Amino acid sequence: MTTGFTAAAPRRRVVLLGATGSIGRQCCDVIARFPDRFELVGAVAGSDAGALAEVVNRFGVRRAAVVSPRPGQRRPDGIGAGIEAACEVAAMESDVVCVAIPGAAALRPTLAAIEAGRTIATATKEVLVMAGELVKRRAAAVGAGILPVDSEHSALWQCLRGERAESVARIVLTASGGPFRERDPATFATITLEEALRHPTWNMGPKVTIDSATMMNKGLEIIEAHFLFDVPYASIGVVIHPRSIVHSFVEFIDGATIAQLGIPDMRVPIALAIADGERLPGIAAPVQLTASSPLEFFEVDPARFPAVGLARAAGETGGIAPAVLNAANEVAVAAFLDRRLGYDAIVPLVAETLAAAALVRQPSLNDILDADAFARQFAARHLEPGVMQA
Ligand SMILES: NC(=O)c1ccc[n+]([C@@H]2O[C@H](COP(=O)([O-])OP(=O)(O)OC[C@H]3O[C@@H](n4cnc5c(N)ncnc54)[C@H](OP(=O)(O)O)[C@@H]3O)[C@@H](O)[C@H]2O)c1
Repeated sequence: MTTGFTAAAPRRRVVLLGATGSIGRQCCDVIARFPDRFELVGAVAGSDAGALAEVVNRFGVRRAAVVSPRPGQRRPDGIGAGIEAACEVAAMESDVVCVAIPGAAALRPTLAAIEAGRTIATATKEVLVMAGELVKRRAAAVGAGILPVDSEHSALWQCLRGERAESVARIVLTASGGPFRERDPATFATITLEEALRHPTWNMGPKVTIDSATMMNKGLEIIEAHFLFDVPYASIGVVIHPRSIVHSFVEFIDGATIAQLGIPDMRVPIALAIADGERLPGIAAPVQLTASSPLEFFEVDPARFPAVGLARAAGETGGIAPAVLNAANEVAVAAFLDRRLGYDAIVPLVAETLAAAALVRQPSLNDILDADAFARQFAARHLEPGVMQA
């Protein structure tokens, strides 16, 4: 880890992938609050060139790109188009690349940043899920750092600072349990898109909100944690904690447990990551524990949330299995968001796709991309036409 800030320290140059999204906007908030600490030098968006242009103008961004410009939308001068342009922005000279593009679309720009030796601060769990072994191998080879932005992994990072790997007995991810924690599973077939998008504690983009409802999000986070912290799957637990105050915790071999607490505000882990572990003042108000009591924790019911076990098994299988899981889930969630698939069909479609995939161990990037393509095609073919939610 590099040294902390001093009054004379140069500003940290930040590249932001997914600059117009939920995490991207919150990262912009942090940068705007600390103009003497950060400089936004590069920005990438998916399709909204207009929103990206606002970011570019607001921060005087040097290089920007939109991956798939909307037809008919004017692209301001200086904003590149296409995946190659996005990868160039990802790889440009910077101190940290904040990755906040949902799903597999983040893989190529993230790899471009890593190959250029950049430190990445990743909110996007899907990159490590799809290609954890490869990403870690390449990052180690070029000396690129990988820092967590996801609130749970940031919590674990904070709990583990200064601790020895051999002192860790277990890491435990907390989960809010989403909107259906107490709903009768017999009624899951009637869950509407609007109900699934109503997350009780976090305000996030649509894909991760649906993943939180099914708890696939927690399954993906198990795999992400395995790669970020080199902890075996058997030593990664999950508990439901509906208030999202305890963001995760670590159990040590001597019986001590260290947890990280805070109000749910993604700007805290974003700021910590882009500042390379330095704590900045006043990002959020401290949690008032007397007002937050009781802090409750529950076991995960595997019948209600089969996605957690499915993802854990895919992680344990390794090879291309997590990439297949991730791609099938992306197709299923997109179909649900499009009202083409019922809520209760999301996880079964992912399971069916996983069962159909041929395992490749120690996959190359091409193997991973092939597995991703296979899973997308398989899942798309098996979507039940006409399944609509009210
Ligand atoms: N939001 C949270 O609180 C939260 C918390 C923890 C982890 N995460 C993770 O962070 C990631 C981002 O989530 P989010 O909630 O910020 O998503 P979001 O609000 O949907 O924003 C997505 C961003 O990525 C861009 N984008 C979309 N598709 C792209 C593509 N194919 N290529 C390049 N850019 C693309 C979007 O650009 P356009 O605006 O042009 O479409 C937008 O800037 C996800 O992996 C999520 O799981 C989010």
